[in-house]
Amino acid sequence: MRVLGIESSCDETAAAVVDADGRVLSDVVASQIAVHAPYGGVVPELAARAHLTNVVPVLERAIAEAGGLETIDAVAVTNGPGLVGALLVGLQAAKAIAFARDLPLVGVDHLIGHLFAVYLRRGEGDPEVPTLPYIALLVSGGHTAIYEVTAPGEAHILGQTRDDAAGEAFDKVAKLLGLGYPGGPVIDRLARAGDPRAIELPVPMASRRTLDFSFSGLKTAVARRVKTHGVPESEAEMADLCASFQRSVTRVLVQKSVHACRTREIGRLVLGGGVAANSGLRAAAAKLCAKHGIALHVPPLASCTDNAAMIAYAGALKLASEGPATLALSAYSRSPDLRRGKQPRRRAT
Ligand code: KG4
Ligand code: ZN
Repeated sequence: MRVLGIESSCDETAAAVVDADGRVLSDVVASQIAVHAPYGGVVPELAARAHLTNVVPVLERAIAEAGGLETIDAVAVTNGPGLVGALLVGLQAAKAIAFARDLPLVGVDHLIGHLFAVYLRRGEGDPEVPTLPYIALLVSGGHTAIYEVTAPGEAHILGQTRDDAAGEAFDKVAKLLGLGYPGGPVIDRLARAGDPRAIELPVPMASRRTLDFSFSGLKTAVARRVKTHGVPESEAEMADLCASFQRSVTRVLVQKSVHACRTREIGRLVLGGGVAANSGLRAAAAKLCAKHGIALHVPPLASCTDNAAMIAYAGALKLASEGPATLALSAYSRSPDLRRGKQPRRRAT
């Protein structure tokens, strides 16, 4: 079984072919960073237009690299959550291919894709695969949440951000400091030369009573500091501010994830999403997991950031358990069970 996956929920147009064992046969991602960089964040209308330009060449390459359209057995596509105008581009392309080739079509929840990306087999650098259940920390530009992943295609949300996503906090703080977009990689790089204890910043929602997060107060604390002291002029001061901010974000992410492992008595933690690239987060997670005897699984970066291989793999799981969707499949902007205050069971939809 070879599944063609298509992903266009935000600012990456992606297509990939994966087999039922998670082996990645092709994986093409066209990034729109250059399109959105001047605005310091993703502009939905521009994202949809760029997807329209990119979707056919990206699909052609992914299909050709995997051996041609005749080798494909099913089409999986992200149908939510995300920017609806962006999602519709991938969805229409998936429907067109499924209809033209008479292939089964399956809609995949983007977050379920991230949560099972740890099973993708890319060859070199694959982490040891965790057994189920495991705790997953998903940290990206659009989402920040802790899940208990219980069965193929199934996860329960344990906690989530009440305002900004962690990546969004990195991006907004970088914008405040004039560091460009996306901010995460720049702050990560600058923080390496800084002292994380140099500047006292709030550790947001540090209480163990909740696994929810909040990052907008931390962003405001940095904004207030910039208003009073100005943007740091020297490299050393900038490095200290970046390191202190990064420590505040990563500490709370790691502490709550490990707390979730301990209270749920699950000895496996998986990191996912673009912020999983953060060196401070990886180091802090490795340290705390080692202290508590928790196995840490960090997939290679290509599996952490938005990609279509994870959608293809989650699509294969869903096809096996639920069968195909019809051509009436529609897009949704927000997962119903991610709305604030609700923590129901989540199944791939
Ligand atoms: O998963 P992703 O590629 O796209 C989605 O948002 O779904 O994540 C992008 C986010 C951006 O906010 C970016 O600033 C952040 O991940 N990011 C990082 C790092 N690399 C990317 N944040 C912190 N440290 C990094 N090294
Ligand atoms: Zn994502």
